Amino acid sequence: MTALDGATVRNPDELRADMVRTLRDQDAITSEPVAAAFSAVPRHRFAPEAPLSLAYDLHSTVPVKKDEHGLVLSVMSAAHLQAVMLEQAGIEPGMKVLEIGSGGVNAAYLQELVGPGGEVTTVDIDRDIVERARLCLDEAGYTQVKTVVADGESGVPDGAPYDRVIVTAAAWDIPPSWIGGLAEKGRLVVPLTVCGTTRSIAFDHDGDSLISRSYGLAHFVPMQGEGAAEERKAMLRDGVVVRTDNVRVPLSAPALNRALDAPRLERWSGAAYDLPDELDLYLTLNLSAVARLHADKEAIERRLVEASALLGVPALVSEDSIAYRTRRENEETGGYESGVVAHGPQAEALADEYAHLLRRWAHDHRRRGAATFRYLPGPAPSPLPQNAVPRRHGIVTATWN
Ligand SMILES: C[S@@+](CC[C@H](N)C(=O)[O-])C[C@H]1O[C@@H](n2cnc3c(N)ncnc32)[C@H](O)[C@@H]1O
Repeated sequence: MTALDGATVRNPDELRADMVRTLRDQDAITSEPVAAAFSAVPRHRFAPEAPLSLAYDLHSTVPVKKDEHGLVLSVMSAAHLQAVMLEQAGIEPGMKVLEIGSGGVNAAYLQELVGPGGEVTTVDIDRDIVERARLCLDEAGYTQVKTVVADGESGVPDGAPYDRVIVTAAAWDIPPSWIGGLAEKGRLVVPLTVCGTTRSIAFDHDGDSLISRSYGLAHFVPMQGEGAAEERKAMLRDGVVVRTDNVRVPLSAPALNRALDAPRLERWSGAAYDLPDELDLYLTLNLSAVARLHADKEAIERRLVEASALLGVPALVSEDSIAYRTRRENEETGGYESGVVAHGPQAEALADEYAHLLRRWAHDHRRRGAATFRYLPGPAPSPLPQNAVPRRHGIVTATWN
């Protein structure tokens, strides 16, 4: 098989070698075992219906299944993200690993990493996906990988304890089975979603809780089944949506629509704007009533909301008002300056809180990896600690250093 890449006809081995080289250059692959796994697995054989160039593209997913409304239920994850998560996992030969969310190719990487003495189990809620993964794994020679059809919310107790649990769908919570199924020195790598923004977090045990060792930006299809996200949406005018997963946050579409009609208040922080993913994470976990504001291109062109909402932006909301981040060019703050746009009767108060956080982040925490996450399983303590995000099975907290 060959692929057209510009004018050149490429074969899978060349494409794979290029992929590994670039993943190393971009620091997605940082260890020899992960490089060897990515070099060994014939990635294209897990996406037989896709063009070779797509299967080997670093940042592209390959669609595998959609529902009747066109919502994507399963994809082959992007190589870059898979590499980063496998590095986070720190897998060694002989380990027992559970993957939640199947597709085949990541399980094959896992099998390469644990070697013949290790064990890989992959579970998916969707029978079609498991059957497809099984076929691809067998055809590529990874017959040793175990495939299971089940809701990953309950883990796969048969093979526990696992040295590593790797979740490959966006999780809204960490169910007891994942923690209980993890060996004492085990590690859970999970794309955890808080208010619409997801980070792949590597958690180790720390007494009765889990503590993060690393995290990175991640995009995944959402978890289905028992563990699906609890989220509310307010559809404002055409192309503008506000979403939140926090029950304490008020969300009234009529009131927020009235707010958008009110004149806008602009407040500039005087602080640098950069590392938008790190800043958004800080805002998401520190604003007192956080939602995520999304707008499509037309709504932005009609100047209903700022361009920052195109990819989703953390918003501070009250019953009748809303504030969110924006930016402007400013050489004095290193290129860009962060700011706030607020609407509604409480615009002043919301803009003050928002701008204060923009300044605090820029002055004290403006670097990669400054956050540490903790997951505390069990009933939420009362009163709930500041910065705590309540979930069904525990709470998430984050601190910045
Ligand atoms: C991004 S795909 C997995 C990609 C795959 N690991 C690979 O090798 O590329 C996410 C998968 O998670 C599955 N999934 C969603 N909710 C699940 C659940 N509760 N339990 C198990 N699998 C689930 C979906 O069916 C989908 O196949």
